[in-house]
Amino acid sequence: MSEKKKFQPLSAPKGVPDYVPPASPQFEAVRDAFTRQAHLAGFQHIELPIFEDTALFARGVGESTDVVSKEMYTFQDRGDRSVTLRPEGTAGVMRAVIEHNLDRGQLPVKLNYSGPFFRYERPQAGRYRQLQQVGVEAIGVDDPALDAEVVALADRCFRSVGLSGFRLELTSLGDRDCRAVYRTKLQEFLFDLPLDEETRKRAEINPLRVLDDKRPEIQEMTAEAPLMLDYLNDTCREHFEIVTGLLDDMNVSYTVNPRLVRGLDYYTKTCFEFVHDGLGAQSGIGGGGRYDGLMSQLGGQDLSGIGFGLGIDRTLLALEVEGIELPDISRRVDVYGVALGDAAKRRMVEVINQLRINGIRADMAYGDRGLKGAMKGADRAQARFALVLGDQELADGTIALRNLSEHAQSQIPLVDVVEYLNRALSTR
Ligand code: HAM
Repeated sequence: MSEKKKFQPLSAPKGVPDYVPPASPQFEAVRDAFTRQAHLAGFQHIELPIFEDTALFARGVGESTDVVSKEMYTFQDRGDRSVTLRPEGTAGVMRAVIEHNLDRGQLPVKLNYSGPFFRYERPQAGRYRQLQQVGVEAIGVDDPALDAEVVALADRCFRSVGLSGFRLELTSLGDRDCRAVYRTKLQEFLFDLPLDEETRKRAEINPLRVLDDKRPEIQEMTAEAPLMLDYLNDTCREHFEIVTGLLDDMNVSYTVNPRLVRGLDYYTKTCFEFVHDGLGAQSGIGGGGRYDGLMSQLGGQDLSGIGFGLGIDRTLLALEVEGIELPDISRRVDVYGVALGDAAKRRMVEVINQLRINGIRADMAYGDRGLKGAMKGADRAQARFALVLGDQELADGTIALRNLSEHAQSQIPLVDVVEYLNRALSTR
């Protein structure tokens, strides 16, 4: 007798979260709430490929960044092309804008997107290898009012899901000209310090990153380091002042953090991060900034843009920390059908279909579970109403309607059931 082979169950790849019921509706709710805020501000959806030519990220995000040098999922496809699972969204949006000439029309081009991104990071709480973002990019106009709009939009996104325990940090990274002057000054300062080999190398490639080093000894040594904000030229200083002034006008609170450093190379001028203090080490729930040189670096016109990426995974963790459950997500359906007998079931399938056609969330019991077992299904779905149909009702042309929260039951004509439920559900 041959023995049946027993297979071991498989797990998701390391560092890749699943979102399954009953928590997964919260995921959708956050993504949809952020997207709605973007649409309210006139952004339009862009759907981008999950993988791109590797050169896009090397050129767009910057080869000296950890994201490009250490964290990309890069592989040769079967045609021997080097492709990379997107680690972020901005470079891809820019590529698509140039490729489809969107920058030749009305400016700014305002685009929003959402979906998974991939970074080979060391997994820990709130840091995943597949992460989810909602992002926006406003491209083609270098106007501080647009910076303020984008920052205020991110702030509204988080508030729209009920979060309040977060801070907004803001700074200006200057432009090509003043940043070059500052970079030299910072390097002069850093090269005088007794830095270890690796940190010295970092100071050569990307000195700003040294200011972001969390080790206490480095923080102490760099406490007096020159700051970009003190080296802004007149254009950048004025730009930053207008941005902060507009945020004040809109009552968006922020703190200026002149040591704010972002992990991607393309930023110029306004740069910001939203931090949630309940999240431990991975506290950045969203961030973004302006990017002046990115489009020309990718072969397009020399136009500026500004955008952000908000982390859905970390927003969900922050909601948990703040004890917030978005309303109504635990309710799977409003109406649950229970049919007793074959003829009743046939009719119930039709009734449930009619309810759905009329925009009512409905489900029914499948398999032969008996009345008690089927009613458990109604409870689990947290339905407001159960419809019970047996042979007797079928013969009478009625259906039993149970109001599950009020524990009341009434008999209504079968032909009126959709209209009745439509009314009952719309008055709640
Ligand atoms: P980013 O700061 O690299 O920016 O990512 C944005 C957000 O994605 C972070 O604030 C964080 O909430 C979330 N995130 C990043 N990495 C992980 C991870 N490993 N696990 C979980 N969540 C993560 C960007 O990606 C830019 N493209 C944003 C942007 C758009 N700048 C201008 N336009």
